[in-house]
Amino acid sequence: MPPVLLLVLAASLVALPSCQSLPVLAPVTKDPATSLYTIPFHDGASLVLDVAGPLVWSTCEGGQSPAEIPCSSPTCLLANAYPAPGCPAPSCGSDRHDKPCTAYPSNPVTGACAAGSLFHTRFAANTTDGNKPVSEVNVGVLAACAPSKLLASLPRGSTGVAGLAASGLALPAQVASAQKVANRFLLCLPTGGPGVAIFGGGPVPWPQFTQSMPYTPLVTKGGSPAHYISARFIEVGDTRVPVSEGALATGGVMLSTRLPYALLRPDVYRPLTLGNNLGGYSVPNVQLALDGGSDTWTMTGKNSMVDVKPGTACVVFVEMKGVEAGDGRAPAVILGGAQMEDFVLDIDMEKKRLGFSRLPHFTGCGGL
Ligand SMILES: *[C@@H]1O[C@H](CO)[C@@H](O)[C@H](O)[C@H]1NC(C)=O
Repeated sequence: MPPVLLLVLAASLVALPSCQSLPVLAPVTKDPATSLYTIPFHDGASLVLDVAGPLVWSTCEGGQSPAEIPCSSPTCLLANAYPAPGCPAPSCGSDRHDKPCTAYPSNPVTGACAAGSLFHTRFAANTTDGNKPVSEVNVGVLAACAPSKLLASLPRGSTGVAGLAASGLALPAQVASAQKVANRFLLCLPTGGPGVAIFGGGPVPWPQFTQSMPYTPLVTKGGSPAHYISARFIEVGDTRVPVSEGALATGGVMLSTRLPYALLRPDVYRPLTLGNNLGGYSVPNVQLALDGGSDTWTMTGKNSMVDVKPGTACVVFVEMKGVEAGDGRAPAVILGGAQMEDFVLDIDMEKKRLGFSRLPHFTGCGGL
């Protein structure tokens, strides 16, 4: 190799660390009225986090520029890769394929959907070095336009939804390509105080908890962009729940932020509630033994009871309706917001793994 080329190569290697991209941090707030979580988007508007949502969508009054994406383009295919149940099947029609792309944003709470075009917008946030904000960035984001009626049941002040699923137009993938960071995010959902979402991976504010974080594989389930993990068994206290062999593996465990409680398929719910007095206030820990190690996702009383009104707490394991026992098309377990609160989750779509670590009560997600 000619010496000059070597020199150039060496210089570019040396220069690398200084151009390393920093992750992007957004504060997460829990809306007390809906138990949904939001992040600031730009100019005072916020978006609802939907960990299983495939798109970013927002009402788009206010002169944003339409993206002029043709219906037959790869981007339009990405926008329609995961049609929500009950939404119209996307189609370019049989005539000409150069008409504009239509996406079908859907409301994670009501399931309603609407047709909308794609438009360019921006996600205003700070990059972080793990300790403090470094610089403000406007991340260019392609979002679907939604009519304001699609905001029904979402927190007041929110103008749409930020999908965090494993799809090309979800927010983590868009931040990854715009900021040259990993397609990965850390999420700490708050109980009361501030929470945080960090797009792009470390450095993180809680290295002491994330350095030795246990990981379990993220699994994909055909036709769904949601994040799934698989569990081997469930224990309540020291007792293994007599769920029939393979039930948990059939359908998997899905992460969701659209409901505060966990939904269990009847073949998982019934054995769990039969022998256990989960209704009492002194709730034993519920432990989900995950694939890929000896670690369990331990839900303490805080993750297994919610106060519905003063003096009334409810067990947050609810039986899934309209689903047959053992039907693998439905997840065996859907973990909701209450089960994820006060954990740091590392959802790494590049390494296809989920890290989870409980934060001590005295720090919460805070200490940022
Ligand atoms: C970025 O950080 C600064 C300093 O903490 C803060 O004032 C500002 O609001 C942040 N910007 C965004 C978009 O979060």
